[in-house]
Amino acid sequence: MAKMKTVLFPGSFDPLTYGHVDIVSRALHIFDNIVIGVLSNPQKGSLFTAEERVELIREQFFDLKERVVVETFSGLLVEFAKEKEINVVLRGLRAISDFDYEAQMALMNKSLSPEIETFFLMTREKYSYISSSLVKQVAPFGGSVQELVPPVIQQALKHKYSALK
Ligand code: PNS
Repeated sequence: MAKMKTVLFPGSFDPLTYGHVDIVSRALHIFDNIVIGVLSNPQKGSLFTAEERVELIREQFFDLKERVVVETFSGLLVEFAKEKEINVVLRGLRAISDFDYEAQMALMNKSLSPEIETFFLMTREKYSYISSSLVKQVAPFGGSVQELVPPVIQQALKHKYSALK
């Protein structure tokens, strides 16, 4: 039997956006399985805890749970990849402005762990302006995020911001 190819999709996902969802669904045409690695970094001051982010992403991909696994990680990405025995890291590229940061990360990861390859997918044009930080600028003021995040995240944002009031 052919070996299953798994890719690691790391990020903060604070919160998951339609941009991320699009990258995952397109990557499923290329890879057999995806491990979504949610960075747990208490110093970074996230809106949702790592556990909340994992739960929300699992909910979003519930129907694909045989192929999409969601876990938290802390520390170095390459160490997490090693632990999972994955050597391809997936990242979405929105615009040229993402390139510098992404290239730095890809090269750093490669120098830390030469067997790691970074695989980039260009974000679909209609999602190219969406970012988690933009969502967090709009949602607390009651602005519509319907076009930016899936319904499970819309609900979670509503709860989060009403709890924070
Ligand atoms: O969604 P983000 O915030 O752009 O994701 C960034 C992430 C989580 C992929 C990156 O910060 C990361 O991998 N952090 C773990 C530490 C690490 O290994 N950094 C890469 C070497 S520079």
